[in-house]
Amino acid sequence: MKKQWIVGNWKMNGSLAANEALLQALMSGLNQPACGVAVCVPSVYLAQCQALLKGSAIELGAQDVSQHEQGAYTGELSAAMLREFGARFAIVGHSERRQYHGETDAVVAAKTQRALAGGVTPIVCVGETLAEREAGKTEEVVKRQLAAVIHTNGHCISEIVVAYEPVWAIGTGKTASPEQAQAVHAVLRAQLQAASSNPARVPILYGGSMNAANAAELLAQPDIDGGLVGGAALKAPDFLSIIAAARKN
Ligand code: PGA
Repeated sequence: MKKQWIVGNWKMNGSLAANEALLQALMSGLNQPACGVAVCVPSVYLAQCQALLKGSAIELGAQDVSQHEQGAYTGELSAAMLREFGARFAIVGHSERRQYHGETDAVVAAKTQRALAGGVTPIVCVGETLAEREAGKTEEVVKRQLAAVIHTNGHCISEIVVAYEPVWAIGTGKTASPEQAQAVHAVLRAQLQAASSNPARVPILYGGSMNAANAAELLAQPDIDGGLVGGAALKAPDFLSIIAAARKN
């Protein structure tokens, strides 16, 4: 079984002082994690976190990336810029970006492509709303979202990370059950398998109210390759417990 990944998504939280305290607590609590660990921080703090994490086992990521390479795009940050400040990952197409910033499947696909070209691994988020789940459309929605990324990125698809984040589970305390999550992960796995010559390489993370209490059960599912963790990533003991719950083999 390949290594799992536990990735923190700090969203718009933090300060110079709080980031330092959190990262110090994580670094002193982590000894030889069995899984990969990363934190996706607000981009203004990449330089600070890059310096603090130097030599540690924790990788750094951003929470978004521009679909453009460079130029007249006020407020945007390119993959090359993020890379320069140590970002190995960038979250792409988070539901909060889709919902509040109007990111379409096409934009998410273009951002994925630009991240890959800039040497940043995109963590591509897909997930259905509560209304879509209740209408029986979960599979259709996540497949459509992933299909756009596959269509634009072709064989490079084996270089991405996917995160299944049911919108109704994000920040709500309502987690998908391990069975619900596994079922969707299996659908995404099959879709990736059909599209890629090297599909075994694509980790599929689960995100949505993952916490210290429910992580082990979710992470034990055969097609769940890790977690994308919001709220619980802001508290060192909780995030460390989730890391400890990752599969050991
Ligand atoms: P949550 O957020 O863990 O707070 O639900 C997850 C995410 O949005 O990535």
